Amino acid sequence: MQEKLEQLLAAAHEEVDAALHSKALQDLKVKYFGKKGHLTEVMKEMGKLSKEERPKIGQLANKVRTEIEAKIEDKHTELSERELAEKLKAEAIDVTLPAKEFRRGGLHPSTQTLNTLIDIFIGMGYTVAEGPEVETVKHNFDDLNSPIDHPSRSQSDTFYFNAELLLRTHTSPVQIRTMLNNKPPIKIISPGRAFRKDEIDATHSPMFHQIEGLVVGEQVTMADLKGTLNEFVRILFGEEVKTKFRPHYFPFTEPSAEMDVSCYKCKGEGCKFCGNSGWIEILGCGMVHPNVLNNCGIDPEKYTGFAFGMGLDRLTLLKYEIADIRLLFENDVRFLAQF
Ligand code: DAH
Repeated sequence: MQEKLEQLLAAAHEEVDAALHSKALQDLKVKYFGKKGHLTEVMKEMGKLSKEERPKIGQLANKVRTEIEAKIEDKHTELSERELAEKLKAEAIDVTLPAKEFRRGGLHPSTQTLNTLIDIFIGMGYTVAEGPEVETVKHNFDDLNSPIDHPSRSQSDTFYFNAELLLRTHTSPVQIRTMLNNKPPIKIISPGRAFRKDEIDATHSPMFHQIEGLVVGEQVTMADLKGTLNEFVRILFGEEVKTKFRPHYFPFTEPSAEMDVSCYKCKGEGCKFCGNSGWIEILGCGMVHPNVLNNCGIDPEKYTGFAFGMGLDRLTLLKYEIADIRLLFENDVRFLAQF
């Protein structure tokens, strides 16, 4: 038996030395100390021994057991340290790698212009009103006092769905909707899309953007109109820019005017930018026609008002010195990324 134990010890030494990973050590523990383990089997035979032999062999068996256990323990420490090192190496993150490029988006130049205008008018106490792009002929033309034979009503200028519905040709119908639904004092701007049957070229697009303004109250005068628009221009283009109001005709205002600003490029000298005139036209305006107030149930004897409307895309082209309106709508990122 002594011999058997010594062989067992030698075999265990060899096997533990040969183990490649901690799982193998676990298996060895079972192989030697498990229920049917080698050492266990030997111990079972202890009963067959003589009284004299038993303590001697017992001692030896204990020694063999402790030695194998210690050997396994040592090997386990060694292997798990190596396994941990390997795992750390495999899962290592290289913090010196350059980060992935993060591309930040930006606002479309049209949106930037719009935001600037909204800020200016909100600063003057206006609120923003909106209206539908599919409009009634009544709101788009009739209630705005548009003569029945006005050229803008024609099939060749306007997108009609039927005799009553169209794509709005301007943002002015929002004036009507606002006055029908609110009592004076009224002070709104209304930005949005408008549509006309225009051939596409560098300055025309069948879809474009306008911003409308409407103020109605007691004793609102032409002086308020001029003061407001002058202030607006001063904030947008700077102190030194001059304005000029030219008489004009719009069905929904009387009197009506177009407003020009002195060319901020050549300071009014005349250049390519302003077509050598020194002036740039930027909006239409006027005092709200009494018929329009009446159409909306507002008493023109008690209330007066002024209105204005301007092309937003034109302002964007001027502000950013863009030569072609189509660039605003093609959404080519290579172009847009410049702003
Ligand atoms: N709706 C006009 C247009 O599209 C612009 C305009 C002119 C609006 C005078 C107004 C105004 O409110 O008072 O050409």
